[in-house]
Amino acid sequence: HLAPLVDRFGRKIDYLRLSVTDRCDLRCSYCMPKSFKGFEEPGDWLTFDEIERVVGIFVRMGTTRVRLTGGEPLLRRHLPRLAGRLSQLPGLSDLSLSTNGTQLVKHAEALYEAGVRRLNISMDTLSRDCMIQITGRDSMSAVMSGLDIAQAIGFAPIKLNMVVMPGINLSEVQAMAEFCINRGLILRLIETMPVGSTGLKSGFTPLGPIVESLRQRLDLIPEIKVMGGGPARYWRTRDGKGQIGLITPMSQHFCETCNRLRMSVDGTIYLCLGEDEKVELRPYLRGGATDADIEHVLREAIELKPERHHFNETPEKIVRFMSQTGG
Ligand code: GTP
Ligand code: 5AD
Ligand code: SF4
Repeated sequence: HLAPLVDRFGRKIDYLRLSVTDRCDLRCSYCMPKSFKGFEEPGDWLTFDEIERVVGIFVRMGTTRVRLTGGEPLLRRHLPRLAGRLSQLPGLSDLSLSTNGTQLVKHAEALYEAGVRRLNISMDTLSRDCMIQITGRDSMSAVMSGLDIAQAIGFAPIKLNMVVMPGINLSEVQAMAEFCINRGLILRLIETMPVGSTGLKSGFTPLGPIVESLRQRLDLIPEIKVMGGGPARYWRTRDGKGQIGLITPMSQHFCETCNRLRMSVDGTIYLCLGEDEKVELRPYLRGGATDADIEHVLREAIELKPERHHFNETPEKIVRFMSQTGG
């Protein structure tokens, strides 16, 4: 065991968000522009050996949770093989995946066998037309089949991520909540961060008033159980059958409890989702660095972690698209 990774503000890092590709088969408006071309070259993608090595060092420094993200992580070939290797690392107790769901039918079983249990699926709407409007593709039936299979296999919990957008899917919040409660899924309502192409123009919908009306209609009470390692705050129905999470980076940020770093597909460590600070590990990994050298680079990197994001102060500035850092 190595000393834990703690930043200048006393925040202990125990959650790594690992982006395994920056490509995606959808073009969600809040994530990347339709015309986006700046993808990483395959030669710069960390190999599974390199990823396993870095994650191993993180785990020895106290990381217990790893979330596979993208782009769309299931577009990375043989992802279940990587998942299987990571879930064997002693000390890693939680390996999860955030996906758009379009490829789940193909990969769900292998992911489960590889040790992935927690699944977060992007689903902003129950309407096919609205899905096309948001994602640029008609993927509703693929995602729904993926969801069915994932539930049948036994992934739990499964959370549906709904980025709430006025004039687009805001009117569907109640229907989504009912859909999720009936199916044993956890709905998470998310405020749009200004990192995509329309996120910018339309601003964000504060979730406070929305949850207030849901609270009355669905008889919600605050959830006291710990529900994953992320920033969501949860409510549940009084009978305990339904849970709803709120992710409010814009109206009420949660940076003082930040527990995470991100690593992108090319081996860049991003210290904060909304800020520029970063350190590139790839040159060290490919330049003969020892594990102790990498550990040292990570300890220097953590000194750069900013106190919080500044989305509200500079909403016109796009630091990176979500597809590049993985949410
Ligand atoms: P669990 O709680 O472990 O289930 O995961 P999560 O909610 O952290 O992960 P997910 O990939 O489902 O992300 C849900 C939403 O939270 C996305 O909109 C992310 O961009 C957002 N999010 C996750 N981590 C952070 C963070 O550190 N800062 C900010 N501002 N947003 C985050
Ligand atoms: N603002 C908030 N959440 C976003 N996501 C993607 N882009 C944004 C954004 N601009 C969410 C999606 C996905 C998760 C990983 O990140 O809901 O499920
Ligand atoms: Fe952490 Fe930055 Fe997210 Fe705030 S915005 S919770 S500091 S990663």
